[in-house]
Amino acid sequence: MSRIKDASLSNKGKQRVEWARTQMKVLEKIRKRFDLEKPFSGMRIGACMHVTTETANLILSLKDGGAEISLSASNPLSTQDDVAAYLVKEGINVFAIRGDSSAEYAQNLEDIIKERPQIIMDDGSDLTVSIHKNKEALSNVVGGTEETTTGVIRLKSMQKDGELKYPVIAVNDAMTKQMFDNRYGTGQSTIDGIIRATNILIAGKTFVVAGYGWCSRGIATRARGMGANVVVTEVDPIRALEAVMDGFRVMTMVEASKLGDLFSTATGDREVINGEHIQNMKDGAILSNSGHFNVEIDVAFLEKYPKKTVRTNVEEYLVDGKRIYLLAQGRLVNLGAAEGHPAAVMDMSFADQALACEYIIKNKLSAGVHNLPEEIDREIARTKLQTMGIEIDKLTKSQEKYLSSWKEGT
Ligand code: ADE
Repeated sequence: MSRIKDASLSNKGKQRVEWARTQMKVLEKIRKRFDLEKPFSGMRIGACMHVTTETANLILSLKDGGAEISLSASNPLSTQDDVAAYLVKEGINVFAIRGDSSAEYAQNLEDIIKERPQIIMDDGSDLTVSIHKNKEALSNVVGGTEETTTGVIRLKSMQKDGELKYPVIAVNDAMTKQMFDNRYGTGQSTIDGIIRATNILIAGKTFVVAGYGWCSRGIATRARGMGANVVVTEVDPIRALEAVMDGFRVMTMVEASKLGDLFSTATGDREVINGEHIQNMKDGAILSNSGHFNVEIDVAFLEKYPKKTVRTNVEEYLVDGKRIYLLAQGRLVNLGAAEGHPAAVMDMSFADQALACEYIIKNKLSAGVHNLPEEIDREIARTKLQTMGIEIDKLTKSQEKYLSSWKEGT
């Protein structure tokens, strides 16, 4: 069973998935091993992830490992319909069409749940929350994984309320995920989305970045690299101080909103750009979001004003005589207006995902949020370096001894 836009797009999808595969060499090694060992033989995996070429390579690696997989999109705007078509041709149940309504999005999750998955791979925790509402389906689940910061925050809150009923590995928190995907992936793909949507020159613009976590620091750094004058806003004093010492101007959003040409949010919280901020903005200000949900910019406030589409993925709102532009409806601009993070960085995130799924079935974990073991994280970093042809030094015996002893001093 599947629900996709157009099965005839599968050849185009195949071509693009194969291209991404050439950049995903760590995952490729795991795929070859899975193909030999079949660790998921007879198991059903339900995944709610962005339907991209990179995700396709993860899904096909798990399939080669023996799994039966159903996939729905973790955002209605991120689905690549050609990829969905190719995956269906490869025997995956896919429920995703780009531009799905909220009701269709919810139905896609229900369709995954009907397949009685035993492992849940999630990006944002919508599938996890939904399956917890269905006792019978929940009883089949042995464990899950979570891809993103927002999802891990939701899981921890479920755990705090005693509502998380199976073990979930917080893939997002692996070092080989957040330090690379969140930072370099979001950094590059956000700028990519803004440029594909608008074709504006970044150099010389005042670029306001909300937040200074891994994602937003990636965006700030890449925007600066392209010649923007970057302003950072934060609520956490330590992160704000880091941004200051990394050389960014730091101020409140009320102040920043008067200065920015471009705004980018990636905080994981709601109304980071609210009505008051929007009213402060200059004529021509451009707003974009790269946080998981479309709550960071107060889109409901903008919707009160006259609106027209001026380019694909660019809406113009006339707010008190000023033109304010919203990209990709306030949804993830990097996936809505571009193709998401490049394959070479998703290589590590999805190697983490693949090995997390294997870890879940090979180990008896308690219900709750777990970290990916550090040995797995380090092994992925080591393999990534090898695939890049980079060798690093090893500690000598005497260095190891020195580091493990407190006896040597001045
Ligand atoms: N999240 C961000 N970029 C992505 C991509 N290329 N594929 C899947 N999930 C993503």
